[in-house]
Amino acid sequence: MRTSLLTLLGSSHPSLNAIAQYYFLHPSKQLRPLLVLLFARATNGLGAEFPQVNWAADNARAHQKELDAPLTRKDILCDWNPSMPDHTASFESAFELRIPPPQPSLYTPPPPLLHQTHPQALTHTLLPTQLRLAQIVEMIHVASLLHDDVLDKSPLRRGAPSAPAAFGNKLAVLGGDFLLGRASAALSRLGSHEVVELIASVIANLVEGEILQMKGNGTEAAPSPSSSASSAIDLKDLHSSPSPSPSPSDKWSIYLKKTYLKTASLMAKGARAAVVLGGCREGEVWKEVAYAYGRNLGIAFQLIDDTLDFSSSTAQLGKPGFADLRLGLATGPALYAAEEFPELEAMIERRFGRDGDVEMALTLISSSRGVERTRELARIHAEKAREVLTLLPRSEARDALEGLTEGVVKRRW
Ligand code: FPP
Ligand code: MG
Repeated sequence: MRTSLLTLLGSSHPSLNAIAQYYFLHPSKQLRPLLVLLFARATNGLGAEFPQVNWAADNARAHQKELDAPLTRKDILCDWNPSMPDHTASFESAFELRIPPPQPSLYTPPPPLLHQTHPQALTHTLLPTQLRLAQIVEMIHVASLLHDDVLDKSPLRRGAPSAPAAFGNKLAVLGGDFLLGRASAALSRLGSHEVVELIASVIANLVEGEILQMKGNGTEAAPSPSSSASSAIDLKDLHSSPSPSPSPSDKWSIYLKKTYLKTASLMAKGARAAVVLGGCREGEVWKEVAYAYGRNLGIAFQLIDDTLDFSSSTAQLGKPGFADLRLGLATGPALYAAEEFPELEAMIERRFGRDGDVEMALTLISSSRGVERTRELARIHAEKAREVLTLLPRSEARDALEGLTEGVVKRRW
């Protein structure tokens, strides 16, 4: 997955190549592509239209090559990539209009019903489109990390200098945009409007989640120390009469919504898209299983991530400890701790912005059951993810997905 992913990222400029490939050179957990690939394997053959998509994959003259082939006329695309030459028209002279030749009829005969003749061909298959989807999902994730490390001013990622630390903020942002561009082109070549819609909505969700984390619902009393110092317009200024501070239950619902948007959406919609590419029709349960699993697993994953911010081993793994508190963010452990120590409410409200707030909050959270209760909430979500899997037939891929529901809760990094 990673090797052929790198061939999607070549460009016309060495600096762009370096930044676009930077985070792929230090492999991470790669959980998102893993979900896509496992759901493909666990559900291929179940959807009513699997025989057609499988037939199309077999018949599309080396389908992998076709996924790399531009859909737009080669002299138009202007998308330089040494791995996929596109014969862009030269800029040395004015561009000549070319009258296209008449196209052959678009009608293609319906595929034979393979499932009646080769039932064994329908299981354990991975379609080239599904492998490409796994790469697209990872590209979007990495694009979001490039932007996130600028917003969070992170000096390190996975124990190495972060992209903004290594290349500067401007290149990090542009590198993320470039990855989104390449991911979008690859997405269009998968040939499914439903999948384009799902994955495009994830990109919007990631941005919404980041804004929600930065600004809450526009109601917080103090600006985030990481965000508004130099902004010309603060979103909360756009509300003529500021709403009252959110109640503790509002804070939980904002936090969980943000968690879905920033983390679970890509897992849920990525897994659903894999099943759609496998020929699942509207009304069939398979894509609903994928979405419900990804959403619950993603929320469990992020809740555990939020507890790890309070773990003493986090700093040793190349991540600064208590990063969320320092960024002014109240995650699960802080929200639970505030039920035991109401004095935390005011600190959460002002985003731990006063001198001594971070240290005091840390002491209170450490003496509360906040971390333990957040882990418990993660376990409930992971258990729900495991439960929905029982709707799928048994397979090695289903077992692996089941194993992940334990893995995300037990992980220490
Ligand atoms: C990591 O969060 C960041 C995300 C999961 C998403 C960030 C999204 C954006 C910056 C919006 C822009 C999106 C795109 C697609 C360009 P974290 O800071 O909690 O985790 P970390 O500790 O790994 O940094
Ligand atoms: Mg971050």
